[in-house]
Amino acid sequence: MNRPLRPLINKTSLLPRPNEYTLALENELKHLAFSEERAPANKGLWRKVIGVESSTSLDLEIGTGNGLFFAHHASQMKQRALVGLELKYKPLIQSIRRAQRVGCKNVAVTRYHAFNLDEIFEPGEINNVFIHFPDPWTSPKKPKNRLTNAWFLEMIHGLQAPGSYLNFKTDSREMFEWSLEEIKQTPYKVEFQTFDLHHSDWSSQNFTTGFEKIFISQGVQINFIRLSK
Ligand SMILES: C[S@@+](CC[C@H](N)C(=O)[O-])C[C@H]1O[C@@H](n2cnc3c(N)ncnc32)[C@H](O)[C@@H]1O
Repeated sequence: MNRPLRPLINKTSLLPRPNEYTLALENELKHLAFSEERAPANKGLWRKVIGVESSTSLDLEIGTGNGLFFAHHASQMKQRALVGLELKYKPLIQSIRRAQRVGCKNVAVTRYHAFNLDEIFEPGEINNVFIHFPDPWTSPKKPKNRLTNAWFLEMIHGLQAPGSYLNFKTDSREMFEWSLEEIKQTPYKVEFQTFDLHHSDWSSQNFTTGFEKIFISQGVQINFIRLSK
């Protein structure tokens, strides 16, 4: 699949009215939370921005939502750093605040469209990547918007350091099966794959995200794959 046009998102500075989240983004959380206008200046410099050694592993969560996994991962993996990517202001700010509340100093978040990730990260800058319950875009004309399309996965692959992995979870079996075909077109190796994460060998090491809790309460099976570079 060829690269689609770079998606444009509205600029924070041009919003007609600030709200409590945009104000936090541009004021008290400015050193840890980046708008789409400020994020590109961090390209190649995320470890420095977060304040960790250049040898520290730097992970990325795409679509943090309310930040349950973001805060969990950052607090369990204090020897690593974590960047959270979000389009929406409220979850962006919720995620960084949740991580701060549990004492994490190894984190940053940024508002950015995932498809433009190569504008804010250098090749090889990222270690492990987490994509949990991305929008499934199930209408027939929309699969090109999926975060698991081949060209986007290939872009992430290029931004990851060798030896890194990518975890992907979804409630949508249809999206998952489509993604498996896309993955075949990329250089990733499949380490583990299941259509029913919670009844698989991986269940004991799984952390249940905000959206995952909802799907589980509805009895939906969770699809999971770990890819490695
Ligand atoms: C369904 S929620 C899942 C949230 C969380 N990962 C979880 O499992 O609870 C998907 C999140 O991804 C964000 N998102 C969607 N498309 C995105 C994109 N292109 N770039 C960055 N974030 C995106 C949405 O704003 C939303 O918060």
